[in-house]
Order: sequence, then C-alpha cells, then structure tokens
Amino acid sequence: MIKVNSDIYQAAEFLNKEEFVAIPTETVYGLAGNIYSEKAIKGIFEIKKRPFFNPLIVHIKSLDYLKEVAIDVPENAYKLANVFWPGPLTMVLKKKHTISDLVTAGKDTVAVRVPDHPIALALLEALDFPLAAPSANPFGCVSPTQAQHVANYFPEDLKMVLDGGVCQRGIESTIVGFQEGKTILYRYGSVSVEEIEAVVGEVFFITKNDISPDAPGMLTKHYAPKTATYLTENVAALIPTFKGKKIGVLLLDGKIELDNQIVKIVLSEKGDLVEAAKNLYESLHQLDKLNLDVIIAQKMPEFGLGFSINDRLERATKK
Ligand code: TXA
Ligand code: MG
Repeated sequence: MIKVNSDIYQAAEFLNKEEFVAIPTETVYGLAGNIYSEKAIKGIFEIKKRPFFNPLIVHIKSLDYLKEVAIDVPENAYKLANVFWPGPLTMVLKKKHTISDLVTAGKDTVAVRVPDHPIALALLEALDFPLAAPSANPFGCVSPTQAQHVANYFPEDLKMVLDGGVCQRGIESTIVGFQEGKTILYRYGSVSVEEIEAVVGEVFFITKNDISPDAPGMLTKHYAPKTATYLTENVAALIPTFKGKKIGVLLLDGKIELDNQIVKIVLSEKGDLVEAAKNLYESLHQLDKLNLDVIIAQKMPEFGLGFSINDRLERATKK
C-alpha cells in the first residue's frame, strides 16, 4: 500500500535505496529518483508507461549545483536562473558526461531546474544527488496537483507520496533552450513568455510539426482527461450540439448563463490567468470523475499564462 505523508526523512531513505517516490513541487507532483541510479530511473519510466525517447527533468537544489549536471552554460541561462530559480523554469543545457543516457533519452542535453517548494528543497538538501522527476501521472494523463491525485493513479506500485499540499502554480514548468544565441521555447508553462522576454529579449518557437522534436512533450496527446474534451472560444454555441448529453464546462470567469443541468467549473472568478492555471488540472480531475459525456473548455485569452493553459487544453482535446 502506498504511504502518503510529509516525512522528508522517509522519502530520503527510499531514494537512498534507489527506490523512486512522488514529491511535491510548485508546479505539479513529480515521480522522483536519483539521477545516478539506473534502477530508480528505469522504474519511473516503467510505472509511468513513458516511452524511453522522452527525457526527464533534473531537479537540483540551487544554481550553485548546476555545474554538476551541465557544461558550457550560456550567459542568458544564468540571467534567467538568477531571476526565476527557484521556480518553474526548466532550461535545456549541454549535459555533463556523468548524466546518463537514460535520463536524457540519449540526447547531449539535459533539462534542469530548481523547484520552488519548501519540501522539495528540504529533500534535495538532505540528499547528495539530484532528482530526475517527470510529472507523477501515467503517460498522457492529466498531471497531479495534489498528493491524492498521485495516490489515485498509483495505489499499488508506488511506495510513497511525499505530501506537500496543493501545488501553487498548477501547471508544469516552462521549458527553454538556447541555440545560436537565441532563446527557444520548448514548452509553455508556469512562467509566461512575456516574463522571459523581459530578461533575455525575444523568445523563438520550435515548429509544432517537427517530427524529430527537441521536446517530445510538445507534440503528443497529453494532459488528457478520460472524458471527451473540446476547446472552443464560444462555449454557448457548442453546447446545443450535445443535446441530451451530460455536459461539463470549464470556464475562465463564469460570465455566461447556462442551463442548470450543466456542470460548471470556473477557473478564476476574477479572470486571473495565474489563478486559473493553478486550478486547471484539479478542475479536469474533478470533471473527469463525474461520468460526463463531454467536457467543453473555454479558450483562454492569448496573453501571459493564457497561452500555457490553451496549450494544455489543446493537447487534452487531441484525438
Ligand atoms: O514542472 C515540471 O516541469 C514537472 C515537475 C515535476 O518538475 N515535471 C515535468 O516533467 O513536467 P515531464 O517529464 O512531465 O516533462 C518533461 C518535459 C518533456 O516534455 C521532455 O520532452 C522535456 O521535458 N525534456 C526533458 N529533457 C529534455 C531535453 N534534453 N531536451 C528537450 N526537452 C527535454
Ligand atoms: Mg508530464
């Protein structure tokens, strides 16, 4: 049976024994293992049913530790780290030779960040190795933002969830890389593009149709509820096309009149996109439990974290 508690020392003990455990971060819960343990890393891929070509993010305790995992770090990476670490910005950098191909899926780069969560940081402090941690959901499913979400996904085959409460950011870290002096966005996330541009200037995008992607998480169907999900700018217009069906809608601020048969979740009464991001996955988990026929999600405005929320919703609706 899975243990759910806040015992950092117990989590450290499992990790020191090459087991993997779920840990809280400010974005989503992760399935964490010692980056130097083949056993732990393989276990994470297996339990998630994650393809081996999809690399993991390495979590370090501070910027000082970066030299243990990455080399040739560009100046812009330091600028961003100084502003956003600890925090939800992952940077793809040239890897040190000591980082295994299992973690990086054979790439010569490593994705790395410092999580901004007191329990995650205390755990990293108690360990003498960094933690590789993908989100703690089966491949393709909605990411967990509470300990209980993780326990629901893996009731049997996971030893422990280190409980750190509700994730304050609620969607994954933003991922950037650096090519020929340019900052490239690999994944939308909890830090907005505008915030990054304020530090390093223009951010460039990789094309979504690239078939040998630098960031596999950019491409696949992902973050998906089991219930059929649709994304639209006009929720009211789509509802009549599902006549007689059990409908749930996911709205930004709820400024829309709906039949009271329809289940309605509002992401942020005041229309705040940061609050909406925090509530996104919990809302999808909730709607998914209601045995609805369809979920209709409202497209967010296109600025700040609106892009990140839309990105996750678009992936959730991919067939
Ligand atoms: O917020 C987060 O980033 C969470 C928490 C637990 O830290 N982690 C997370 O991990 O979202 P995961 O595995 O669900 O997503 C990792 C993403 C994948 O899309 C993967 O392709 C990309 O990071 N990635 C990892 N290493 C990479 C690399 N060397 N180059 C490009 N993309 C990489
Ligand atoms: Mg994930």
